Amino acid sequence: MCGIVAYLGRRQAWPILIKGLQRLEYRGYDSAGVALLENNFLKVYKKKGKVEELVQSASLSDREGTQGIGHTRWATHGAPDDNNAHPHISQDRRLALVHNGIIENYALLKKALEKEGHYFSGETDTEVLVHFIEEIQNRDDLSLEEAVRIALTRVTGAYAIVVMDRNEPGKLVAARKASPLVIGLGDGEYFLASDATPIIEYTNRVIYLNDEEIAVVTLADGPQVRTMNNEEQTPFIQVLDMEIEQLEKGGFDHFMLKEIYEQPGTIADCMRGRLNVEQGWVRLGGLDDYLNRVVQARRIIIAACGTSWHSALIGEYLIEDLARIPVEVEYASELRYRNPIISEEDVVIAISQSGETADTLAAIELAREKGALVYGIVNVVGSSIARLTHCGSYIHAGPEIGVASTKAFTGQVTLLALMALTLAHRRGTITESYFRRLVLELSEIPQKVAKVLESNAKIEYIAGEIKDRSNALYLGRGYNFPVALEGALKLKEISYIHAEGYPAAEMKHGPIALIDENMPVIVIATNKSAYDKIVSNIQEVKARKGMVVAVVVEGDEVISGMADYVIEIPNTEEPFTPLLSVIPLQLLSYHIALMRGCNVDQPRNLAKSVTVE
Ligand code: F6R
Repeated sequence: MCGIVAYLGRRQAWPILIKGLQRLEYRGYDSAGVALLENNFLKVYKKKGKVEELVQSASLSDREGTQGIGHTRWATHGAPDDNNAHPHISQDRRLALVHNGIIENYALLKKALEKEGHYFSGETDTEVLVHFIEEIQNRDDLSLEEAVRIALTRVTGAYAIVVMDRNEPGKLVAARKASPLVIGLGDGEYFLASDATPIIEYTNRVIYLNDEEIAVVTLADGPQVRTMNNEEQTPFIQVLDMEIEQLEKGGFDHFMLKEIYEQPGTIADCMRGRLNVEQGWVRLGGLDDYLNRVVQARRIIIAACGTSWHSALIGEYLIEDLARIPVEVEYASELRYRNPIISEEDVVIAISQSGETADTLAAIELAREKGALVYGIVNVVGSSIARLTHCGSYIHAGPEIGVASTKAFTGQVTLLALMALTLAHRRGTITESYFRRLVLELSEIPQKVAKVLESNAKIEYIAGEIKDRSNALYLGRGYNFPVALEGALKLKEISYIHAEGYPAAEMKHGPIALIDENMPVIVIATNKSAYDKIVSNIQEVKARKGMVVAVVVEGDEVISGMADYVIEIPNTEEPFTPLLSVIPLQLLSYHIALMRGCNVDQPRNLAKSVTVE
């Protein structure tokens, strides 16, 4: 987490840095800070809270300077206060540094530096790093880049950093290891950031720095990239296909709502060129060269975190149901720390919206070490996971800025559906006519999602009935069980209401004890299989005076007659139900959070990109 941004050019840096930080706020919003360099003079502005608070607090200060670095923080070491906010400054006030990541051996370094007379004003690992670079630089009178390079060979952990030196104006030094960093190439000006969103408004030509590379960016020569061993690299310049409109709210009150409403388009984008109804085929370009290996896999392991883990569970149901390959779903954080059995005969699928999640990255490294083929399902183009996997497919959902994941989830499920269909067709595990029916049905999902969105006003009304409750239970069976988990996660993360997702049949094994007139139970009751069982579950809740909100298929009269509130979705083939049934749950949590006065796009304690373990 944490977002970093930097500018070097001829324009005033402050407005560029502030706008960049606002775009990166999804990565953390505990504090924000900027350092500007003007006439060999370093000016530092830091404030606890959001970027807007930094803007207010600095409104009367001089903010001149054509070079600067900025940071928005998700606190790891040290409280989220002004003092621990970045940028951090060396003792001689010569260097300023911003950092995303964790320096693991900072405590040892700090002790050693204190013996040399360094004094630390805060508790962060980053302050130690900038003092460490200063110590190395001053001891041997080194250039900034050389001091940074040597320092980084002696630290352990993860970092993306940008440093500037009062005595070397016109230069920024950046480096990365396990945290992302992008350099934007403007016309005689350079932009550095944790991702491309602060850059795209100025240029679409970017360089993604690789792990353990250092870039020295000067006005005279642009970026020069070297490895930590000082070997010169020829950086690859990528031209990004991203529009600035994708980064703005486009008339919606919140990014989350905009992203929910984008789903008919993003699901269609995910399928574009990958499915043909008339000719009856499905094709994933990223799978082509590895199809035989996946088709023959002994088993597939899917590793992910959070919402991506929920789509992984749906992937398990899809691949086992249609392609008959055994699938195991793992929390990436658990996979890496136990001693899993993974071999060359296994295929590991890593799912991640951001492509930067530290636990998922570590799981991929482990799977690669054990010889498995690793396939990535990622949204952010050029991200670390996209580059670390052997092969993969993008979901093409466009930038997801709301911290609660919505369109990425449906993109991931769509991609997994395409994959399951590809594997099933190749393995001959479903009939040609069923395959064709599924292909047709999948192609119609975007229009059906648009239809579900028409229920927004009704869902808003139901939200009003739930907003003052303290708990909620989500129940689903089969393909709808992961949807229940996802609905509960959406509610808790943005409205702070405690919510649990359960397989409907499990309710009687414990959670039923919680049910009384204060407990809203959201039942996803669209399954054709086990329909009667779901009806019984609803009766069990009603018998205990629980309030039932049911998501049903259009025209369902039985459940409509029993539930307190009903939300209808169009009929579809059962494997694709999650793509429709999750939409009302996303809207429900959005409206509840809004009614409770919560910050929908930036919920407390959360960050979009979890680059720490
Ligand atoms: C929930 C949410 C998180 C992420 C999780 C994994 O709405 O956004 O649970 O799904 O942090 O992130 P990615 O998919 O970027 O690896």
